[in-house]
Amino acid sequence: MYRLAVIGSILSLAIPTLGLCRCRPHESCWSSFQDWLALNNSIQGQLVSVRPVAAKCSNVSASWPDPFWRAAEPSAVQWENWEAWPERNQTCYIEDRQNTTCGQGRVSLYPAKVESTSQIQETVAFVKRHNLRLVIKNSGHDFLGRPSAPESLQISTHATKDIENFDKFMPTGAPKDGVGEGPAITIAAGVSITELYAAVSRHNRSVIAGASGSIGAGGGYFQGGGHSVFGVWRGLA
Ligand SMILES: Cc1cc2nc3c(=O)[nH]c(=O)nc-3n(C[C@H](O)[C@H](O)[C@H](O)COP(=O)(O)OP(=O)(O)OC[C@H]3O[C@@H](n4cnc5c(N)ncnc54)[C@H](O)[C@@H]3O)c2cc1C
Ligand SMILES: *[C@@H]1O[C@H](CO)[C@@H](O)[C@H](O)[C@H]1NC(C)=O
Ligand SMILES: *[C@@H]1O[C@H](CO)[C@@H](O)[C@H](O)[C@H]1NC(C)=O
Ligand SMILES: *[C@@H]1O[C@H](CO)[C@@H](O)[C@H](O)[C@H]1NC(C)=O
Ligand SMILES: *[C@@H]1O[C@H](CO)[C@@H](O)[C@H](O)[C@H]1NC(C)=O
Ligand SMILES: *[C@@H]1O[C@H](CO)[C@@H](O)[C@H](O)[C@H]1NC(C)=O
Repeated sequence: MYRLAVIGSILSLAIPTLGLCRCRPHESCWSSFQDWLALNNSIQGQLVSVRPVAAKCSNVSASWPDPFWRAAEPSAVQWENWEAWPERNQTCYIEDRQNTTCGQGRVSLYPAKVESTSQIQETVAFVKRHNLRLVIKNSGHDFLGRPSAPESLQISTHATKDIENFDKFMPTGAPKDGVGEGPAITIAAGVSITELYAAVSRHNRSVIAGASGSIGAGGGYFQGGGHSVFGVWRGLA
C-alpha cells in the first residue's frame, strides 16, 4: 500500500489528470468494446479473452500439472495460488465442486499473445493510453505472482521463439575490425530453457541456464541473476 501511494503521488505530480489507480472494469474509464476491438486489430487478432484454466474442467485434468502446458496457456500460471484472488473470494480450482462459481481471480482478463515487436509496442501503447494494469507472462514460474494480477491485460511472450546463432558476435556499435566477440546466441523473450539448450547443443556449445526446462531463458530467469548447476564454474547467466 505504501509503495502504491508513493508511486501514485509521483504520478499525480507529473500527470495531474491521471488517477491514483489503474482503470478497472466497473469504472467508467475502463476501455470500451470498440477500444478492445481496435487493440485486437492493431495486433493482428492476437488478443484473447480468457477464463481461469480450471473453468475448462471437462478436458483439462490431464494437462493440469504439466509446466510446459501452463507456460503456453495464458489463463494459467505455474502456482495455482497466484491464479486466485482470495481477498475477493475469487478462486477457480479444479478440485472445486462443479456447482461453485469459478472466480476470475488474478487471471488476466485479456492476454495479448504477441508474436512480434510491433505487437508488443501496440499493446504497451494501448495500456498507457487506457491506464490499465499490465502484466508480462513468459512461463508463469514466478514465485511472487508477478505474471498475474486482478483485472489486468497480459502480454504473453510465449510465442516469440526466434533464435540466432553467431560464431563471432558483433554487438551494435562495436569497432568494425571484423574481429567479433566469439560465439553467442540471441533469443526472443519466449524461448524456454529447453529450447535454448537444444539450440546451443546443435553447435556443440554450452550455456549457463537453469534447472527447470519450462522456464523462459530471457525473462525472469536473467532478471533474477540466473543460477545454474554450472554457476560455480562460470558464474551467473
Ligand atoms: C521448478 C523451478 C525451478 C527453477 N530453477 C531455477 C534455476 O535453476 N536457476 C534460477 O536462476 N532460477 C530458477 N527458478 C526461478 C526462475 O528463474 C524464476 O521463477 C523466473 O522469474 C522465471 O522467469 P520466467 O520469465 O520464465 O517466468 P514469468 O513468471 O513469466 O516471469 C517472471 C518475471 O519476469 C517478468 N518478465 C518475464 N519476461 C519478461 C520480459 N521479456 N520483459 C520484462 N519482464 C519480463 C514477469 O513479468 C515476471 O515479473 C526456478 C523456478 C522453478 C519454479
Ligand atoms: C481477436 O481477433 C481474433 C481474430 O479475428 C478473434 O479470433 C479473437 O476472438 C479476437 N479477440 C477478442 C478478445 O475479441
Ligand atoms: C481441450 O479441448 C480443446 C477444444 O476442444 C482442444 O483444443 C484441446 O486440445 C483439449 N485439451 C486437451 C488436454 O485435451
Ligand atoms: C469471503 O468469504 C468469507 C467466508 O465465506 C466471508 O466471511 C467474506 O466476507 C467474503 N469476502 C468477500 C470480499 O466477499
Ligand atoms: C453442491 O453440490 C454438492 C454435491 O455435489 C452439495 O452437497 C452442495 O450442497 C451443493 N452446493 C450448492 C451451493 O448447491
Ligand atoms: C565438441 O566440443 C568439445 C569441447 O570443445 C570437443 O572435445 C568435441 O570434439 C566437439 N565435438 C564435435 C562433434 O565437434
